[in-house]
Amino acid sequence: MIEAAVMGFGTVGGGVVKVLEENAGIIRRSVREGIHVKYILDLREFPESPYRGRIVHDVDTILNDPSISIVCETMGGQGAAYKFTKAFLEKGISVCTSNKELVAAKGPELMETAKAHHCSYLFEASVGGGIPLLRTIITGLPQEDITSVTGILNGTTNYILTKMEKEGTGFDEALKGAQENGYAERDPSADVEGYDTARKIAIISSIVGGGTAAFEDVHCEGITKITPADLHCANALGCRVKLLAVMKKQESGKYSIITAPFLVPAGNALYNIDDVFNGILIHGTMVDDVLLGGRGAGREPTASAVVSDVIDAAKNKGETVPCPWDGSKKLDVADYRTAKYRFFVRVPEEERAAAAGAFGDITEVSEAEEKEFSFVTPELNETEFAGKAAGLTILSRIRML
Ligand code: HSE
Repeated sequence: MIEAAVMGFGTVGGGVVKVLEENAGIIRRSVREGIHVKYILDLREFPESPYRGRIVHDVDTILNDPSISIVCETMGGQGAAYKFTKAFLEKGISVCTSNKELVAAKGPELMETAKAHHCSYLFEASVGGGIPLLRTIITGLPQEDITSVTGILNGTTNYILTKMEKEGTGFDEALKGAQENGYAERDPSADVEGYDTARKIAIISSIVGGGTAAFEDVHCEGITKITPADLHCANALGCRVKLLAVMKKQESGKYSIITAPFLVPAGNALYNIDDVFNGILIHGTMVDDVLLGGRGAGREPTASAVVSDVIDAAKNKGETVPCPWDGSKKLDVADYRTAKYRFFVRVPEEERAAAAGAFGDITEVSEAEEKEFSFVTPELNETEFAGKAAGLTILSRIRML
């Protein structure tokens, strides 16, 4: 029997125990000896839980038990989660995590530690919830020159935007719904300000590009400035507003990486990805487009991804599961201002002539909001946009996919 422990008995940690227990028979088809949760580390007591007998409060109980070979880190954050993860890896104990904050910040170091101690630091659940996204890139597309990844990578914001657009729900109420469903981060500003999506695309880019893209390398805009008027105008254009992560490999070999709201046109595969679902389009030069989708957040889907890594770690006991992300290299990231997009723009009605004069070849949006003029610009980079918009009152501007 493979003995495992779970650190953090919250939403995802609880789900991990559930998947390992309820699907134990299925899991034995891949890991014959079976995987058993021996300990659950949490500061709290769980007197009503059927697993109360396995709760421990001291990490040393797990660290000092030589039977443990895999630990799931579902605590979150960079404090104790980092310290404990490092300590386990240094003992040759593999760690499987959903903690994208820690992966984005310390992934290279922790993978290096794992390698030095013949174990693995695995993080499928850190990106795309239940979608086998990293595994698809690593084991399904290693032959591909991946030139772009475009994705809805945050379940909370996609849920909020869907509720606002389809049901007219207010932002705060929609966010509350996402929190009640267990989708949001403990500090939901990580979701709505785009940081969570930025961390996820940094992780994906590091794997695609083979060197580290840091969270700070990703230009990041969230959805807090998106209004019902934006959603309405987008619909009038045959588009929907989605918070996207976009990674593009430029001809120079540099990568441009941004997280921002985009107008997604009706023909695009991401147009109908709603609620908590995530969708990712991966473009390779040989395979063309690969579309992945599924639940991007929530207890069981995220836990399922953690357990997929537990199985991988169990099958590769005593070795390091290979990953193309070389932490000793830095990804060559381009200045986001060099990437060109068409922009959807709203200005006050009285600035119609000035806007048309400044931007030139614009497309007018027929069903704009009252007393406003909205239009779509030709392709521009950020600097060009800023120059042309300088004398105007920009009510909103959203890039178009
Ligand atoms: N808060 C995250 C989301 C959880 O909503 O996508 C899954 O990473």
